[in-house]
Amino acid sequence: MKNTFGTNVSVTLFGESHGNTIGAVLDGLAPGIRVDEDFIRFQLSLRRPAGHVSTGRVEPDAFQLVSGVKDGCTTGAPICVLIPNEKQNSADYESEEFLPRPGHADLTAFYKYHGFEDRRGGGHFSGRLTAPLVAVGAIAVFALRQKDVLIGTHLKRCAGIVDRVFMNELEDIETLNEKAFAVLDENACEKMIAAIEAAAEEGDSVGGVLETAVCGLPAGVGEPWFDSVESMLSHVLFSIPAVKGVEFGDGFLICDKKGSEANDGMRLNGDTLTFLSNHNGGVLGGITTGNTLKFCTAIKPTPSIFKEQYTVDLTKCENAALLLKGRHDPAIAHRARVVVDSVTALALCDLLSIRYGTDWLKGDV
Ligand SMILES: Cc1cc2nc3c(=O)[nH]c(=O)nc-3n(C[C@H](O)[C@H](O)[C@H](O)COP(=O)(O)O)c2cc1C
Repeated sequence: MKNTFGTNVSVTLFGESHGNTIGAVLDGLAPGIRVDEDFIRFQLSLRRPAGHVSTGRVEPDAFQLVSGVKDGCTTGAPICVLIPNEKQNSADYESEEFLPRPGHADLTAFYKYHGFEDRRGGGHFSGRLTAPLVAVGAIAVFALRQKDVLIGTHLKRCAGIVDRVFMNELEDIETLNEKAFAVLDENACEKMIAAIEAAAEEGDSVGGVLETAVCGLPAGVGEPWFDSVESMLSHVLFSIPAVKGVEFGDGFLICDKKGSEANDGMRLNGDTLTFLSNHNGGVLGGITTGNTLKFCTAIKPTPSIFKEQYTVDLTKCENAALLLKGRHDPAIAHRARVVVDSVTALALCDLLSIRYGTDWLKGDV
């Protein structure tokens, strides 16, 4: 199932960057879950390029729910969302030469699909395909909210500029979910925007680290070993183009700590178990502890840049120089943040359905 993720709740992705239509099929959601089309539109707006910090290809993302939703609710049948591509400019990709872009999937797609792949705009490997992922992800985010499971992501670091850490997680999540550029500290936000714009001005790009918090997850979700919360989330997060790393809790830095500093002590307040810290990111043994689920996702700088680069001409079989034209994001991380929320919601819906059955996601069960 190369383009499908999930067991009980699954998502299948299809389309190409410059094809007629891209889309996704979300299967396994219980009947009777509310689907709010305005919310899908809002989530898509958070992914849409804006200003000088993003690509000039601004697609309207006029999505259509063609199955699985009736009278504002899921029917239980597969939900298919279609999004037309309207602003592609394939002339940017018409050439006799084949010069794979360093850092992009052009080369590996050629190795795998032998030239039959659609190369225009990165084809099936394009970040454009994250639009339908966000559309179906919005259904999952909305369903989880009805169950008081709230997801929020901020740009923790970008171009060397650091945002403040999560403080009051619930409040921070609510603030972030209203923001087009998800940074908690306004000062850091301005500096990050300026740094991305400066990189764009130079024809270059920058990367960033996203930090996600999920509040309200019940304790005891996740399977031991292969379908652990960390395994499932890493699987789906690494599916997002440009993701180069995923860390839970203190991540790699926990290794510099002593056990006495890394362990999260426990206390009982009446019947409620609480933790004194959260170095392990709310997961132990692959299973949620009831503490906030926390992880970071590393996003590399956009591979398509407007500086001359070394590549090879695979048509003529000789070394070549590449100077790109076209439209590209000078940074991906700020747009990927809603993609991270979306795939997180999809993976959690799957895990929760495995734990409690698919009907659990229905508000009234
Ligand atoms: C929202 C989003 C937007 C992206 N925009 C671009 C872009 O404008 N130009 C580009 O070269 N790559 C862009 N990418 C990244 C490439 O799709 C990605 O680097 C490429 O497919 C290779 O995959 P890898 O980096 O995971 O190895 C984007 C990714 C995402 C998630």
